[in-house]
This record gives sequence, C-alpha cells and structure tokens, in this order.
Amino acid sequence: MYEIIKQLEEKRAAARLGGGQRRIDAQHARGKLSARERIELLLDPDSFEEWDMFVEHRCTDFGMGEQTIPGDGVVTGYGTINGRLVFVFSQDFTVFGGSLSQAHAEKICKIMDHAIKIGAPVIGLNDSGGARIQEGVASLAGYADVFQRNVMASGVIPQISVIMGPCAGGAVYSPAMTDFIFMVKDTSYMFVTGPDVVKTVTHEEVTAEELGGAVTHSSRSGVADRAFENDVEALLMLRRFINYLPANNHEQPPVRPTPDSPDRDEYSLDTLVPDNPNKPYDMKELILKIVDDYDFFEVQPDYAKNIIVGFARMAGSTVGIVANQPLVLAGCLDIKSAIKAGRFVRFCDCFNIPIITFVDVPGFMPGTAQEYGGIIKHGAKLLFAFAEATVPKITLITRKAYGGAYDVMSSKHLRGDVNFAWPSAEIAVMGPKGAVEIIFRQDIGDAAKIEARTEEYRQKFANPFIAGHRGFIDDVIMPHDTRRRICRSLAMLREKQLENPWRKHGNIPL
Ligand code: HXC
Repeated sequence: MYEIIKQLEEKRAAARLGGGQRRIDAQHARGKLSARERIELLLDPDSFEEWDMFVEHRCTDFGMGEQTIPGDGVVTGYGTINGRLVFVFSQDFTVFGGSLSQAHAEKICKIMDHAIKIGAPVIGLNDSGGARIQEGVASLAGYADVFQRNVMASGVIPQISVIMGPCAGGAVYSPAMTDFIFMVKDTSYMFVTGPDVVKTVTHEEVTAEELGGAVTHSSRSGVADRAFENDVEALLMLRRFINYLPANNHEQPPVRPTPDSPDRDEYSLDTLVPDNPNKPYDMKELILKIVDDYDFFEVQPDYAKNIIVGFARMAGSTVGIVANQPLVLAGCLDIKSAIKAGRFVRFCDCFNIPIITFVDVPGFMPGTAQEYGGIIKHGAKLLFAFAEATVPKITLITRKAYGGAYDVMSSKHLRGDVNFAWPSAEIAVMGPKGAVEIIFRQDIGDAAKIEARTEEYRQKFANPFIAGHRGFIDDVIMPHDTRRRICRSLAMLREKQLENPWRKHGNIPL
C-alpha cells in the first residue's frame, strides 16, 4: 500500500509541474502566474478541490503519442470565494501552450455541467494557443461542446472569463458568450485573426497589443469589461466582483451588512446640478454619494463613457446602476452606449438584481455616423431590455429627460416601479430652444419673440410637475434625501412579483 500511495504522490507531483519548471519560469519571466498560482490567488485558502488531474489527451499523430502530460493543459475543479461555491478552469500555457484538445475540452465541460446542475458560477482563466493543432477536428468539436454549454448556462449561472494570455481564432467565442470578460494589460490579447493574417488580407500593419490587447478591448471595441494591470490585480478584483452576484438565477443577490445608514443625508447633492442647464456635472458623484460605503464597481468604465453601468449595494443588497453621464457627449444615447447599457440591464434582469437608473439625457445622438451605423436598431436594444426587465426598477431624473430617450430610460411607461425626479428635472419632447424654433418657426427672425416663447416653454415644461400631474413621476424629491428614498423603495419592492407572458424567447433587435 505504501508503494501505491507513493506512486500516487509522484503522479500528483508530475501533474502539478505541468509543462515543467523551465516553462513555468518562462511564464513568470513574462509577468504571468502559472495556472495553479492563479487558482490559489482566486479561491479561499485550501478550498480548491481539483478534478481530472490524470486526464491525458488521446492523440497519436505527429508524435503526440509519446508526449502526454497529466491534466492536459487545464486545471479544473471547484472551491470557494469568500465562502461561496464557484467552479473554475485555468488553462496551463506551459502544457502545449494551453491549447485545447478534446480531453481538455471534456474537462471544462464536466465542471460546466456540474455548475449548471448545482447552480454556481463558472470562472474561466484563459491562457491558450487555441485549438490543439495536432488534433484537428477533434479539438474543434471540443470548442463547440464548450460553446453549447456557454449558451445553456447563459442566464442560469453567472459566467466570467479572465483573459490572461493569448485567446485567438474561434477560441474567442467562448469568452464572448460569457457574462463578463476581464483582461490583463500587456500579457493578454483576443482576436479572431492575428496581425499576420490581417497584414495579408487588409495590408494593415498592427501589433497584437493594438489589435486585441486589454486597452483596445476595454476602450475601443467594448469586448472587455475591465482591464487590469497584472494577474494579481485581476484575480483580486474578480474576488470582489463575484461578491455582488447571486450564484444562480433562482437566488437573490447576497446581502452584506453595512454600517452606512440607509437614512444618510447627503446635502452636497442639493448643489450637484448647475443652474445653467448646458453645464455638465459628474454623475459619478451622485452614484458614489448614494450607494453603501461610497463603493461602486464600474463595468466598462473606459468604453461609451456617456453612460455609466456597474454594481453597488444599497442597504446591503446588490443593485445594478445605469446612469447617463452629462460629462461625456452631454449624456446623449448613441449606438455604443445603448448596447453597453442594454446588455447590463439584461444581466441584472437574469440574476434578480434591482436596477436603479439615473437620467440626464438630452436625447439620441444625431448624425449620419449614427444613422448609418444603425442607431435605430441598436437604440432599440436598450428600450427592449428595460421594457422586458421584471426586476425592481427605480428611476431618478436629475435634469434632462428629453424625447424618446425619456421613454427609454426606465420610464414609468416601461413598468418603472418607482420614478422620482429632482426639482431640477426637465421632462419634455426636446429642449426649450429647439422646441420653440420648430413650433414658432415664423418668428425666428424676431429675437425678442423667440426669447419670450422660449421662456414660456421653459416655464411650462422645464420642470418635473407636468409629468407629476399625470402620475408619470411618483414624487419630486430633495436631492439630499435620495439615498433614503431609494433604500425605502427597494425595501418596499423586495417581494415584487412580475412575469412576462410565456414565450420561447423574445426577439430583441440584435
Ligand atoms: C498545439 C501549441 C499551440 C496549438 C502553441 N503550442 N499553440 N501546440 N496547438 N494551438 C505550443 C508550442 O508548440 C510550444 O510548444 C508551446 O505551445 C508554446 O508556444 P510558443 O509558440 O513557444 O509560445 P509563444 O511564442 O508565446 O507564442 C504563443 C502563440 C503561438 C502566439 C499562441 O504559440 C501560436 O501562434 N500558436 C498557434 C496559435 C494558433 O494558430 N492556434 C489555432 C487557432 S485557430 P513547446 O513544446 O515548444 O513548448 C483556433 C480555432 C478554434 O483556435 C476554433 C473554435 C471554433
């Protein structure tokens, strides 16, 4: 028996070494952690239960029969983050470049199947040269098996991808179908075709970093949700991030007690909105001042900055925040911001996370670039997402809510549960000047007349009371009282029940 135990220990030690010390050193030299070091940092100490450590590939072509490494380039299993169960796979670049063989895919599928059955998040740490070239179609089949599970798990359990090395070709589509993608600066990249193919086909010269690095995807393409400085920061932020999420779509999000009173007044908010309606202010200040402990986890902070989305807590419970940002493009809705916020709203709705919407929106962005780019269809995504959502929805109009954008931004008419306005709110079809220039076009040459008409329109519509008369706004609240009013509304809505009619699925304008 002693001999058998010794052999087991030797086998385990060989598996733990992956592709060998030389390759682990090379990984470190690039500023990257090994697959196992990443898992250790991500999970609670001593909580990792590894599966399939002895799985090997079954390929015999191209001399592969003589090259087997236990584990086959991916470490899989489950563990806890702050005591809560998660499933995890971590690709090991030191073993055949972390490439995906059929056996490697089977390991990932096994933990995904369990995660779906049990109802726990899946976290994928990606560091891979893509399909195992020696295996041909068997590895492509393996990818498709993972893709299918990504789709089945979507909206059932949270799926989070961290890109910590290469992720190229069709391999990008598994992360793309997960809920959130985090990337590490300088060491990770994602693209469908690499710089060499790009050069051949389009004659563009571009580096891997420019084409698909963390900065590119978190600020230009919107593929990534956050970019972190290094592996350690990415993994620690992921631990923080997962705390906001429920384990599955049947659970309510976790509650974290806080010393921050729900009744806290914030008098500085009374002067946040400038007197001049054309002067911008920072909507993030409002968000930080009303959420628990001034703590906000922003998603896609560097992409489509005219809208802000992210997670926070109020009276201890997770909320999703969607807010126009007057500092960028005056807070207009455009293609990118509609897609960004629409996807975020749908995530919240999948996972029972109430949505708080802060509105200061002068409308949709005009111009040929937007129209040719399909703002009609893309803007409709956000409208569709808000209208479809059945989670508690609380909306606060701080200043402008003009035109179609008023309707879109979680208005009463889209089943907003509680719709507040600050006294500074202006709810109208458009701004006073634009409105007067249309309805009193004949007076355009007469500055005094136009000025008088504009003032008349401002008096009539540049306030929240017309909407209040009709019950479209439930109350006009004092800015300093915002936190208390929202916390109370959330408590009142805790047992909200609302179901959409049965259907296979809606047909969101993709
Ligand atoms: C088998 C691979 C591999 C792969 C890397 N390796 N990629 N083995 N299949 N796809 C091996 C290398 O042979 C090498 O083995 C080790 O991993 C490290 O690779 P290096 O090239 O030395 O590392 P580096 O210089 O850092 O370059 C990393 C890389 C490069 C950029 C990822 O390896 C590369 O271009 N690989 C091929 C990428 C690719 O074309 N994949 C297929 C994409 S198509 P040794 O023994 O020397 O350590 C795809 C389709 C998916 O994935 C479709 C889904 C639908």
